[in-house]
Amino acid sequence: MGRSYLSARMRMRRYKVFLLFLLGICVLSVLHCYKALQSTSLLQDLSSPSKHLKSLKMFSGIFWSFPTEVVQSQQEPYEPIHVKDYLDWQVILPDPAEGKLHERLFQLQDDSTPFFVRTESGVLCFREGTDITSHRKLLHRHMKKNDTIKEEQIVVRCRCREGWHGPNCGIPTIVFHSNLPSKTKVTPRKIPRRVINAVNINHEFDLLHARFHELADVVDVFLVCESNFTAFGEPRALHFRQLILNGTFDYVKHKILYVFLDHFPKGGHMDGWIADDYLRTYLSKNGMSRLKGLKPDDVFVIDDADEIPARDGILFLKHYDGWTEPVGIHMRKSLYGFYWRQFGTLNVLSACTAAMLFKVYKGDGILLRRRSYYTMSGFREYENSTRRNLIPWSIGNPVHYAGWHCSWCFKPEGIYYKLISAQNGDFPRWGDYAEKRKISYIKDLIRTGGWFDGSVPDYPPTDLHEHMYAPKYILENFEKYRYLLENPYAKQQP
Ligand SMILES: *[C@@H]1O[C@H](CO)[C@@H](O)[C@H](O)[C@H]1NC(C)=O
Ligand SMILES: *[C@@H]1O[C@H](CO)[C@@H](O)[C@H](O)[C@H]1NC(C)=O
Ligand SMILES: *[C@@H]1O[C@H](CO)[C@@H](O)[C@H](O)[C@H]1NC(C)=O
Ligand SMILES: *[C@@H]1O[C@H](CO)[C@@H](O)[C@H](O)[C@H]1NC(C)=O
Repeated sequence: MGRSYLSARMRMRRYKVFLLFLLGICVLSVLHCYKALQSTSLLQDLSSPSKHLKSLKMFSGIFWSFPTEVVQSQQEPYEPIHVKDYLDWQVILPDPAEGKLHERLFQLQDDSTPFFVRTESGVLCFREGTDITSHRKLLHRHMKKNDTIKEEQIVVRCRCREGWHGPNCGIPTIVFHSNLPSKTKVTPRKIPRRVINAVNINHEFDLLHARFHELADVVDVFLVCESNFTAFGEPRALHFRQLILNGTFDYVKHKILYVFLDHFPKGGHMDGWIADDYLRTYLSKNGMSRLKGLKPDDVFVIDDADEIPARDGILFLKHYDGWTEPVGIHMRKSLYGFYWRQFGTLNVLSACTAAMLFKVYKGDGILLRRRSYYTMSGFREYENSTRRNLIPWSIGNPVHYAGWHCSWCFKPEGIYYKLISAQNGDFPRWGDYAEKRKISYIKDLIRTGGWFDGSVPDYPPTDLHEHMYAPKYILENFEKYRYLLENPYAKQQP
């Protein structure tokens, strides 16, 4: 819609300018004057950082005449910029002495920590899900009394803590209540799978901290891809790289493999979906190629920056055999913060084994996110090789959230930045409308939960104390992340 509207407008403009041009031929001196004027204003426009001029480039193949006319009539000043922090951040820190950040390799290691313990009676229990002290107490009492209660009655089963299920107490509630067909047949692993979590980052740094804190102890390596182009195709500073180098992520730096996308894909200007997909393709291909020691049963999880899987679900994938793939994740959906919760869940296919990633999806993470795996050429062969039916399943269900999808969860300046860097294909592209970029307008959307098209959806009520309201790290740092937890512009409660 946006595209045809724009091109109609362009044609009108071209027509207008054409008339001007005819006039110019009749009056030579006027033409001379006009030309001089045109070239000065063209120069001015080229040197000013006008968004519109750049956005016009995509039409330049078809409507390559008279860009000045169009630019002049569309030009309007930027909002007084509070987005300085986002845009002016251009210092390039040097690579550290140990080598270039985006060329490093990452060695995956086996973890021999005993995640399962054998009780005195020889039962294997998942340490984290088991009420170990109650085991000990019972056993102790049993021995002291030396009564005749059969041992099996007391300790033949693991005693699960709340939220854990199954004979080994290693199945979290979000898997227990999922549609995993082989739920009762899963078995604990001696050595856990390694987990690789891939994500593209733009400026979602608060959510990135939340991801790292949620998942760092179950994920072996985070592949984080940053580009020096926005999804729209404009240059952008490498903010994440700078934050790694200035120490902001030191607490998890040893688990980050930095992926640098230094080019914009062909066709990405005309069709933004190409740019969008390419980010995931590059992330998974470049990132996976730099892992050493990858095994077929390692787990690959790909997310958008605003999709954070809950730790327990990933923990299960890591420690159990017998689940099928691909694996989806039911995520709690919210807009602008966790307070505008939306109905239902977002269920995204996000995980599979490394074997499936390469044999079915050809190493391309974007193909995993699509739901068409069964038509892919390698699928039947791969399914046969696993000797099971690969029926997709999802962690969680519509009432048991297994993660969070927090959409447009930024302060107003961040939303502004997302608007102007959005890809060119998801129409209407709200960043193209000056009035939608106004900080005051954005604040109003946040206040009401409204959307850029003027609609205000229905939201179910939320409560800060509800289960899975937000990732733990966000809740634990309430003051710092208050803007994500409470509507910052809502009227004060009486
Ligand atoms: C416990 O009872 C068994 C017989 O049931 C007996 O052989 C054993 O000596 C008793 N142990 C103690 C510590 O009383
Ligand atoms: C992105 O980085 C590459 C490699 O350093 C460089 O050649 C290219 O000019 C950069 N592009 C922009 C827009 O900064
Ligand atoms: C790193 O840089 C960011 C952005 O300039 C700044 O906000 C942050 O405080 C810096 N962190 C450290 C540890 O210097
Ligand atoms: C399936 O796998 C078995 C061995 O595991 C093999 O003999 C058979 O040819 C395979 N079938 C197909 C259709 O690939």
